[in-house]
Amino acid sequence: MSNNTIIAIDGYSSCGKSTLAKALAKKLHYIYVDSGAMYRAVALYFLRNNIDSADHAQIEAALKDIHLNFHSRDYETHITLNGEEVSDEIRQMPVSEKVSEVSALKEVRREMVKQQQRMGQSKNIVMDGRDIGTTVFPNATLKIFMTADPAVRAQRRYDEIRTKNPDITLEEVFENIAHRDYSDTTREESPLVRAKDAIILDNTNLTPEEQLQFALDKVEKLKG
Ligand code: DC
Repeated sequence: MSNNTIIAIDGYSSCGKSTLAKALAKKLHYIYVDSGAMYRAVALYFLRNNIDSADHAQIEAALKDIHLNFHSRDYETHITLNGEEVSDEIRQMPVSEKVSEVSALKEVRREMVKQQQRMGQSKNIVMDGRDIGTTVFPNATLKIFMTADPAVRAQRRYDEIRTKNPDITLEEVFENIAHRDYSDTTREESPLVRAKDAIILDNTNLTPEEQLQFALDKVEKLKG
C-alpha cells in the first residue's frame, strides 16, 4: 500500500476550489490536479467532433481517441487535448454549457476516474472536483467540501472571465452556475454529495488567505 498524502477538495461550481487547491499544493509542495479541466477537455472534444451524447458506441470511440495531459507551470493548470494546449478554450462559455451533459455520461466518468486514480497512486496530490472524496479517493487523507452563496459565486466567476468574454452578463453566469449545480447534484452517476467525513468550508465571507489557513490548520492537525 502506498502512503502518499491525498487531499480531496470537492464542492459546487465557482466556489474557489481551484484557488484553494492550488495554494495548498504550492505551500505543501504537492501536485495539483484540476479534475474539472479533464471533463472540460472531453466536452471540448465532443463539441468539436459533434459526438452524440446518446450514442454509446460514439462515446466509447471518442474516449479511445482522447489523450489528456497536464503540464504544471507554477501550479497553473495547462492541459493538452491530443497534444494541443486547450487551457483557455475549455474556460469559454460553449464548453461551460456543454460540460454538465458530458460529465454526466457514465463512460466518461469511468475513464476520468481511472486516470485520476492513477495520478494519485504514488505522489502527494491535491485534487479538486465533485466526486474526489466520494468516488475517486474515498480513503483520501483529508477531504474538504466547499460551498458559498450562489450570488457571490456568480460575481466571482463573472469578475474572473469578463475580460476574456466581454459580451457576457452576470445573469448568464448566474444561470450557468445554477444549471450546473442542479445537474451536478441530481445526475445518476457520481452526483455531487459531501463525503460523510469531509470538512465543510463555506467561504462566502472568507478571503483566499483565510481559506488557505483553514486548510493548513486541518493538515497540521492530521500530522499531529
Ligand atoms: O470545476 P469545473 O467547474 O471546472 O468543472 C467543470 C464541470 O465538470 C462541472 O460542471 C462538473 C464537472 N465535474 C465533475 O462532474 N466531476 C469532477 N470531479 C470535476 C468536474
